[in-house]
Amino acid sequence: MSEAKDPKDTCVLVTGGAGFIGSHTVVELLQNGYKAVIADDLSNASEKVIDRIKTIVGDEAAKNLSFYKVDVNDRTALNAIFDENPIDRVIHFAGFKAVGESVHKPIEYYSNNLGNTLTLVDVMRNHGCKDIIFSSSATVYGNPDSLPLTEESPKKPATNPYGWTKWMIEQILTDLHTADPEWNVVLLRYFNPIGAHPSGLMGEDPKGIPNNLLPYVAQVAVGKRECVHVFGNDYDTPDGTGVRDYIHVCDLGTGHVAALNWMNGRTGVEIFNLGTGKGTSVLQIIKAFSKACGKELPYQIDPRRPGDVDANYADCSKAKREMGWEAKYTIDDMCRDSWNWQSKNPDGYGE
Ligand code: UFG
Repeated sequence: MSEAKDPKDTCVLVTGGAGFIGSHTVVELLQNGYKAVIADDLSNASEKVIDRIKTIVGDEAAKNLSFYKVDVNDRTALNAIFDENPIDRVIHFAGFKAVGESVHKPIEYYSNNLGNTLTLVDVMRNHGCKDIIFSSSATVYGNPDSLPLTEESPKKPATNPYGWTKWMIEQILTDLHTADPEWNVVLLRYFNPIGAHPSGLMGEDPKGIPNNLLPYVAQVAVGKRECVHVFGNDYDTPDGTGVRDYIHVCDLGTGHVAALNWMNGRTGVEIFNLGTGKGTSVLQIIKAFSKACGKELPYQIDPRRPGDVDANYADCSKAKREMGWEAKYTIDDMCRDSWNWQSKNPDGYGE
């Protein structure tokens, strides 16, 4: 049974805590008095993030952070983390996340994302820890019948193995609670996380050519790429380009703190959308980013990208009602912070 605890007495294991969303969440945890233990194999993250987190939160809060360079599939290493730390709750981010790559590497995606989750929950169970927040995605809604998407909107078949792993892990965690009602599961469905820490010390650092819109736009702005490729302008949206619900990564961080506070002392399975509730088109993003970086960003219209939906955006009223959380940052804030990070760190963390 989940025991109600004060944040200062609560130790949170954050798998994938050195990654883009993970690192911003760890900052919010530490700033809200939680103790955090990061388990990250650095396969898609930099060790430099750990020092950046410490700089942002300051010496006192930094004492509440530990880092293990560990693959969550490694049961022995994971057991050791639980033996060495009084873990109360887990936030599970660790996983492969590139949509396109997952189509070509289904074995790797299923094996890593499902495998590490199964190892994690087994080790948790063996240590009497049954509180987990899972990093899920709006991708589970597929091509929506109607907008905005509420938590009751139906899950649709995924269009790629990455999406299926999110879909299936939600199901695995739900089944876990059915088998043992002491489990306390929160599924957070993120919409499109962008932006960076306002300090300019942390941000998104994709390897190779960015798959997602914002890092691509940021690299055009900093001169690393020639022009933005807009994937289709014949969608059923006001300007014909794809519409998404972009959310500042720091708002996602506070969303996790809200979920930790909310789940305190409960059991069950609960789903929350984390978005802003507002849709923004690709062209609107290019315009907002141009304003942020002070120059018109060149773009060209390309064919649609297979698997993309016209539009999706969230109804976030449940998160507000239940957890008292709502997103604060605007699209202009997101582009400003993303540009601040990109211009100060043109090569990301430089690895
Ligand atoms: N887009 C472009 N050019 C690019 C990249 C993207 O025009 O170079 C467009 C896409 O067509 C889409 C929008 O920008 O309309 C956003 O695309 P992203 O790739 O940034 O994001 P997606 O909405 O496709 O996917 C994101 C995450 C997934 C997650 C999903 C949930 O990358 O992990 O949101 O809705 F599953």
